[in-house]
Amino acid sequence: MAEYDLVVRGGEVATGFGTTRCDIGIKGGRIVALAENLADGAQVLEAGGLLVLPGGIDSHCHIEEPSRGGYVGTAGDVPVTVNEESFVTASTSAFAGGTTSVVCFVPQWKGEGILPRIADYEQRAAKGMLDYSFHQIITDPTEDVLQREVPQIVAKGIRSLKVFLTYEPLHLSDEEYLKVLVTARKNGCLVTVHCENYAAIKWRTEALLAAGLTAPKYHAWSRPPVVEREATHRAIALAELVDQPIQVFHVSCAEAAEEIARAQHRGLKVWGETCPQYLTLTAADMDRPGFGGAAFMCSPSPRTTEEHARVWEMIRRGTLDVVTSDHCGFSMGGEDGKAVSGRDAPFRDIPNGIPGLAARLPILFSEGVSKGRITLDEFVRLTATNPARLMGLAPRKGMIAVGADADLALWDPKKQVTLTNALMQHAIDYTPYEGMQVTGWPVATVRRGAVVMRDGKVQAEPGTGQFLARGPYDYIRPRGVLENGFDAAPMP
Ligand code: URP
Ligand code: ZN
Ligand code: ZN
Repeated sequence: MAEYDLVVRGGEVATGFGTTRCDIGIKGGRIVALAENLADGAQVLEAGGLLVLPGGIDSHCHIEEPSRGGYVGTAGDVPVTVNEESFVTASTSAFAGGTTSVVCFVPQWKGEGILPRIADYEQRAAKGMLDYSFHQIITDPTEDVLQREVPQIVAKGIRSLKVFLTYEPLHLSDEEYLKVLVTARKNGCLVTVHCENYAAIKWRTEALLAAGLTAPKYHAWSRPPVVEREATHRAIALAELVDQPIQVFHVSCAEAAEEIARAQHRGLKVWGETCPQYLTLTAADMDRPGFGGAAFMCSPSPRTTEEHARVWEMIRRGTLDVVTSDHCGFSMGGEDGKAVSGRDAPFRDIPNGIPGLAARLPILFSEGVSKGRITLDEFVRLTATNPARLMGLAPRKGMIAVGADADLALWDPKKQVTLTNALMQHAIDYTPYEGMQVTGWPVATVRRGAVVMRDGKVQAEPGTGQFLARGPYDYIRPRGVLENGFDAAPMP
C-alpha cells in the first residue's frame, strides 16, 4: 500500500513565512510529510513549479442564510427568505476560487432564541462540500439567550458572536451591544461587528428619499465614511470598557481603519477585516443606468480609487489583517434578488450585499501580489493563516504544515484571466467584477486531501463538508501591541 494517499509534487510551497520547493505527502486528509523527493502516493498531483498555497479561509460569507426582514432596510413582517447561494453552489464557487473553508452566519430572529435557528442551519450546511463553521448573529440579546443558550453554542464550538450596529431590524442599541460583549467575555468568544451608525443612516436616507433622490447611487450618499468611523470608534470604546476582543468587519475606508490602528497602538485586542470590493469597486459603479447600480450595492458602500490606496496602506501596516469576501449574493434578474421590491424601488429597499467567494483570492493576488502592493507571504496570511488563527481554526486550518488538514490551492501566478460570471460558478446571475483582468489563478484545489477542483472543473460529493468546531480565538496580538499592554477593567 502506498505511504501517501496523495503527493503534491514539485511545488513552490508558500508557508506565509517564505516559500520552499518541496513535495507534500498527504494521508487521511492531513499533511504528513513536507520534503523533497517523496515516494509516489496512490495519487500524484504534479505542481510543476507552480505555487502551492494554503486553501483560502473565507471567514465572512453569507450562504443559504434564512432571513426575516433581511438586509433590505425595511422593518415589518416580511416572510422568511433564504439566501440564493446554497451550501452546494457556494462550495462549487469556493473550490473554483481556491477557498476550502468558510465561516458563515446563523441568524437570530427577534423574539426567538438561537438554538432552533442553529438546528436548521446545521442541516443546510451539512449538505455542502466545503468545511464550515458559524458566527452566531445576535439581534435580540435576552437574558435567556445570553445566559442559557450562548454557553450551549460555545460548547458546540461556535466561538464568535456577530452584531450589527445598523440595519433594520437587526441592529443593537449600545446597551444591547454591551450585554453581548459581557457575555462573549464570560464565554471566551470573539465579537465581530458591522460598524455603521444606524440613526445617522436612517436620518440621511429619509432626507434623500424625501428629496426624490432614490436611485442606487444614493445608497453611498446615505452612509458616507463618517458614519462608519463613528460606529467603529464606539464599537471599540465599548469593547474597551468591557475588555472584550472584537473584529471590525468589512472596513471600507482609512477613517475607520485609523480608529482600529489607534486602538491597537493602545494595546487593545481589536482586529480589522476588509474585502476586495473596498480595493476595487467605487461609489461611481452604483451610478450605472437604470437598475444597474444595484449590482454594486453593499454596506459599507464602495468608496473611491483614492480610498482604495488608503485601505491598501492600512493592509500593509497590518491594521487590517484579514481579507474576506463578505459574499452575500442577490441575483439581478428574477423577482427574489436585488429587484425584490421592484426595479424602480428606492435604494433603501434593495438588498445589500454582493457575491465574491470565487473572486476573492484572484483579485487580492492580482491587485496585491502581482502589482507589488503586498508580498506573497502577506497574501497567505491575509487570506488563510490570520483568519484561521483569529477564528480558532489553527493549526488545523490556514497553514501548510505537518499535522494540518491538507487544504491547498495550486496556483499559477502568471496566468491571465478575464473575470466572467461563468468562472465564478456561483448561483448568482452576475459578478460585480465582470471584465476585470487578473494575473494569478487557481488551477487545482485540494480539500482534506481530495482534489476537488482541477482546471476549473469541480468534483466533490455533496455532504462531504465538515463542521469545524472552533477553539478560542488565538491571541495573535495586532502588530505593535505589547503583551499585557492594558489594564483589564473590573467586570460587573
Ligand atoms: O452589504 C453587505 N455587506 N451585506 C451583507 C451583510 C453584511 O452587512 O455583512
Ligand atoms: Zn456587515
Ligand atoms: Zn456580511
